[in-house]
Amino acid sequence: MHVSTAKPVYVLNGPNLNMLGLREPSIYGHESLADVEVRVRSHAEQLGLRIDFRQTNFEGELVTWIQEARDKACGILLNAGALTHTSIAVLDALSAAELPAIEVHLSNVFRREAFRHHSYVSLAAVGVICGFGPASYTLALDGLANILARKTSDSKAPA
Ligand code: DQA
Repeated sequence: MHVSTAKPVYVLNGPNLNMLGLREPSIYGHESLADVEVRVRSHAEQLGLRIDFRQTNFEGELVTWIQEARDKACGILLNAGALTHTSIAVLDALSAAELPAIEVHLSNVFRREAFRHHSYVSLAAVGVICGFGPASYTLALDGLANILARKTSDSKAPA
């Protein structure tokens, strides 16, 4: 598949994801976030997509980036880290963005503590990919590429 969109996909990472590779490797693996970025970038190239890859430890900054995405991005991949389970502000920003968003987690949150089973992000996401380690990101990008390809072919269809 090759998608043609002028705008990049925002790949946004929340708190503690800068610690990947060091942080609880039995849960999150040994790849760093920079390694994950390389993977996602090369996968995006194959799909014909550009990405803007970012990480923040601050809820407000994540909200600001999601607001920015509304005009500047064609879609969002979001691993909001622990904010997934706590942040109505992130949910509201995603709902306001009116873009296809995919929720991503490295770990299978449903095999973990009960507090990780609830996600505010899910309420505004088209779908969720979790439990595949860094491959969760590329699988999520495939899902988003499908949605974007459908959108562009619909917009070209005769009325
Ligand atoms: C995570 C899962 C969250 O529950 C956790 O707080 C994280 C990482 C994941 O990618 O598996 O920080 O989003």
